[in-house]
Parts: sequence; C-alpha cells; structure tokens
Amino acid sequence: MTSYKARIQQQLGLVQMLQASGLNTYSREVSSGCGPTMRVEGKECINFISNSYMGFSVHPKVIEAAKKALSKYGLGIGGSPLACGTTSLHLKLAERIAANYGTESALVFATGYQALAGTIQGLLGRGDVALLDNLDHRSIIDGCALSGVKIRSFIHNDMQDLEQLVERTAKQKGHRMLIVDSVYSMDGDVAKLAQINEICRSAGVTIMIDEAHSLGILGKNGKGLLEHFDMPNGADIISGTFSKFAGAVGGFTAADREVIDYLRHYSSPFVFSASIPPAVVAAVHTSFELLESEPEWHKLLWENVDFMLKGLKQLGFDTGNSETPVIPIMIRDTEKVLRMNRQLLDQGVYCSPVVHPGVPLKMERLRLGVMATHTSDHLSSALETFGRVGREYEVI
Ligand SMILES: Cc1ncc(COP(=O)(O)O)c(C=O)c1O
Repeated sequence: MTSYKARIQQQLGLVQMLQASGLNTYSREVSSGCGPTMRVEGKECINFISNSYMGFSVHPKVIEAAKKALSKYGLGIGGSPLACGTTSLHLKLAERIAANYGTESALVFATGYQALAGTIQGLLGRGDVALLDNLDHRSIIDGCALSGVKIRSFIHNDMQDLEQLVERTAKQKGHRMLIVDSVYSMDGDVAKLAQINEICRSAGVTIMIDEAHSLGILGKNGKGLLEHFDMPNGADIISGTFSKFAGAVGGFTAADREVIDYLRHYSSPFVFSASIPPAVVAAVHTSFELLESEPEWHKLLWENVDFMLKGLKQLGFDTGNSETPVIPIMIRDTEKVLRMNRQLLDQGVYCSPVVHPGVPLKMERLRLGVMATHTSDHLSSALETFGRVGREYEVI
C-alpha cells in the first residue's frame, strides 16, 4: 500500500469512529442564513459557531447591495483580478480598506486565507526569517511554506520570548518579518501591539498583522487593532478577511503603494485565482458603511461579549484569556468536548468542538462566537444550557 493511502486510512478511522458514535457535530446540514439562530439538522439552534460577529451577512441593506450588483454584473467576473476581475466595485472596496487603515493602498483577494498566504508568499523568500507567535493562524504558516522563508516561533503572546527571539535572529542575513494575529482565533486574546513595536522597530523587523477577528470588532469605531491601541503606524503590512465582521468571503492586504503594486503582480493567489464576485464586493462595502451608519451593532456586540464572559465565569467555566467575541470554554479532553458539543446541539445550542490538531493536546475546548444580533433571551437561555451540560460532565 502506498504511504499516502496508509495515512489516509489511519486518519479516516478516527472520522469513521466519530460518525459511527453519533458524536459528529462537524459539517452538519444548515438550512438557514447565518443569524443569531440557525436551522441545523432541521432544528432551530442558537448560533455560537459562526464568525459573523456583527450579523451583517443577513442585514437587509447588505442583501439589497448584493442583489443590485448581481443584476448589474452577473454572478462572477470571469477572471483573475489581474485580467478582467477588477471592477469599479473592487477598486472602491480597496479604497475603503486603505482609508480604514490610513495606508496608501490596498488589494482585495478572493479569500482571507489567500490574502495572508499570498502576501507572505509575495513578500518573503528563501533566506528571510518569519517570526511567528506559536498560535498564529494556519494561513500564515502555509504562506511561509509557499514562500520558503525560515520560520522561528515565540511562545504565545510572551513578549520576553519575542525579545529573545529577535536578539537570537539579529545576525540572520535575510529580512525579518514578525507576523501575528490581532485577535487569536481560538483563544480570543489580543496581540500586544505596543510591546511588539518596542521590540521590533529598533531591531529593523517589519510588522505584519492578521486582522481577521479584529476588523469591525476592535477599536472605538471597529477599525481594528491599530485603533484599539491608538497606534496608527503600529504595523507595516495589514491583511485580513471579510468572512468575520461581514460574515461574507474575501480578504485584503493594506500597505504602502509600492508593496501593493508589487503584490498585484507577484502574489500567486492574487494573480492565479479568480476574482471575488462583484455582488460579494458590493455587500462587503455596505458592511463597512454599516459600521459607521449603524454603530449600535458594535455597542451591542460588546455588551453581549461582556454578558457572556461574565455569565460563563460565574458558572465556573474557564474562558482562558479571552476579551473578545471569540470565547473558548476550556475542557482539555477530546471525548468530553465531542460528547458535550453533541449534547449542546441536541439541546439547541450550536458551537465549535475544537480538538487536536486544531489546538494542542490538553487544550481541547468548545469555541463560541458571540454576535451583535444575539438577544438577551438567546444569551440567557444558552447560559442555562451551558450550565446544565457543564454540570453533567463535571466541568463546573
Ligand atoms: C486568524 C485568521 N486568519 C485568516 C483566516 C482565513 O480567512 P478566510 O476564512 O476568510 O479565508 C481565518 C479564518 O478562519 C482566521 O481565523
């Protein structure tokens, strides 16, 4: 048997066991839009599984914008952005992103994954060094693999370890770039931008941030990590996605004009992949407008985050260092996570079971994404269910 088939069989064994046990809550059939509740396996559930923190993907103005663009442009635009895939809508959205971050320019990618991986692949190469937080998102790691850059990691959010890493790599010949998530996707804690700048700037290390879970969420006006810390020049390269605050699809990179002009011609996922459909671009642009015209959603989101963090802690759950809409409930046991998640889903609460290799062993957890559109009834009822299931499994 070939080695790849042996590996597949070994891994598939786990998936088949999961399916046979009835514990599989991955890829369940969803038959509604992504609101504060969702229809899952034919049943209405409170939605804690999505990253659509603002709930904009089902906002009437967003749907209307998509419909209008669909009527004008049709479904897709039939090519890569470098060919015919750059419509006036794509240009307008890129301008909006650059304005959000105060950069000279920006580029729209088909997905957030492509934006991260494609920016790193474009900017770094063999001989360079990427300094990564050890909980950085997979798209960053895959971008490094594509580029051939050497990876050096530091302990998650540990600034002493970063400082030592910067010292240890000082004699490397190539360029050094630090790349971190603004908000960590499984833990919900925030990158320490001020300390990162103190350590990296004097050492000549470029700073790149992944704004996936931060744009629309952090900062007084939802402009992201730089606004949160009031550090408009806190990063050189800013990438992110439209799949979280806008609940859509697509990604971006914002930076100096020179960097963006270069990426437009040398980032493989940008050049060799089809452009994001105009209807999505129009809808994402409207989501940006909603951040300004309907600021109440941002306020509601943070009230809900506060309510859930306090409620879960009062029940006795361990929510790690989360301070954002991404809330882990630490369980530290794979089977318990799977059993609890199945039970929660059966009782009408849908969240993510996160096990190895998504997180390190003994760091298994349930992951919640809080939404601005959750009502207090949704949240109180979910807390009751979490409490009931948590007690049954002796987690609290
Ligand atoms: C931190 C982070 N970066 C990048 C991505 C990739 O974004 P997308 O799913 O929009 O391709 C994700 C999505 O899971 C993420 O959590």
